[in-house]
Amino acid sequence: MTWLITGGAGYIGAHVARAMTEAGERVLALDDLSAGVPARLPADVPLVRGSSLDAGLLKRVLAEHDVTGVVHLAARKQVAESVAQPTRYYQENVGGLATLLEAVAEAGVGRFVFSSSAAVYGNPDAGLITEDTPCAPVNPYGETKLTGEWLVRAAGQAHGISTVCLRYFNVAGAAAPELADTGVFNIVPMVFDRLTRDDAPRIFGDDYPTPDGTCVRDYIHVADLAEAHLAAARRVGDRDGDLTVNIGRGAGVSVRELVTVIGEVTGDRREAVVEPRRPGDAPVSVASAELAARELGWRARRGVREMIESAWAGWQLHHGK
Ligand SMILES: NC(=O)c1ccc[n+]([C@@H]2O[C@H](COP(=O)([O-])OP(=O)(O)OC[C@H]3O[C@@H](n4cnc5c(N)ncnc54)[C@H](O)[C@@H]3O)[C@@H](O)[C@H]2O)c1
Repeated sequence: MTWLITGGAGYIGAHVARAMTEAGERVLALDDLSAGVPARLPADVPLVRGSSLDAGLLKRVLAEHDVTGVVHLAARKQVAESVAQPTRYYQENVGGLATLLEAVAEAGVGRFVFSSSAAVYGNPDAGLITEDTPCAPVNPYGETKLTGEWLVRAAGQAHGISTVCLRYFNVAGAAAPELADTGVFNIVPMVFDRLTRDDAPRIFGDDYPTPDGTCVRDYIHVADLAEAHLAAARRVGDRDGDLTVNIGRGAGVSVRELVTVIGEVTGDRREAVVEPRRPGDAPVSVASAELAARELGWRARRGVREMIESAWAGWQLHHGK
C-alpha cells in the first residue's frame, strides 16, 4: 500500500503522516503550502508541492507513486473566511475534491478517507450527536464539508471506491511541540493569545442552559485523531461501500472548565471576562463516539489536560510567552 495524504504538511495532516509511517504504512504528501509547513513532515515522507485542483499533477502523482489509497485533508477551514469568500471555499473544498476523485477513479485507487467536520451538523438541538442527527450546516465551510461527503459517497458507489468520512469534533493539542497548530482560530490558541498579550481570556455567554452556563464542546487530541485515520485507512480496505463516523471523545467540557485547565497549565489563572453570546453558537455539541468504536475499533485515549499541556508547549515554541 502507498497512501497519498493531501494537506500532509498541515496541522492534522502532519500528525496523520507521522502516525501512519510509525505504524509501517508507506506515505506520500501533497500540499500547496498555502498553510502547510514542510518541516512538520517526517524526514522519510516525500512532499509533492501542488494543488488538489491540478488534475494533471494528481494523475502523475497517483501513477508514479503507485498510490493505492488517499487520505484527503487539503481544504480551507476558516468559518469566517468562508462566509466572506464562499465561492473560493466551494472551489477549493468541493472543486478540489471533485478533481481528486476523478483522478482517483481514473487511476483505479480503491480506498479514500475524507476529512469532514462536526460543522456538517450546524447547531443541532441534540444531547449526544449521532451520525443520524440531521445535518444542517450554518456556514459555507460546513456546507462544503457536507457536499464533500455526498460527493465522496456518490463517487465511491459509481467507481467502486471504498470510502470513509470522518466528522472531527474540536481538535486540540500536539504530538510534539513542532507539530502544533500555529493558527489562532480555535479556542485553545485564542486563550493562549490573550494570555500572551497580558489580557484576560474571554468567554462568550454564561447564560446558556448548561451546568455552568457556558457552551459545552467535545475536544479531541490531534494524536487520537491521527490514530483514527490509521484505523480508518486499515478498515477502508476490508469493506465495500461507505462509512461516515463521528470522531470525538463522547464527553463534554464547558468553556469555563477549559479556561480553568488552561489557567492551571500555564500558571496564569486570571479571571475570564464574560462577553455577550456570539450568534450561532450551539449550547452543547458533543459526539456520540460509539459508531467509531464499533466500526473502526478506535476510541480516544487522551484527556483535556494532555491536550492543553501539549498545545501550550507548542505555543511557547512558536510564539514565546
Ligand atoms: N482543525 C480542526 O479543528 C478541524 C476540525 C474539523 C475538520 N478539519 C478539517 O481537517 C483538515 C485539515 O485541517 P488542519 O486543521 O490540519 O488545517 P491546515 O490548514 O493546517 O491544513 C490544511 C493543509 O492543506 C493544504 N491545502 C489547502 N488547500 C489545498 C489545496 N487546494 N491543495 C493542496 N493543499 C492544500 C494547506 O497548505 C495545509 O497544509 C481540513 O480539511 C479541515 O477542514 C479540521
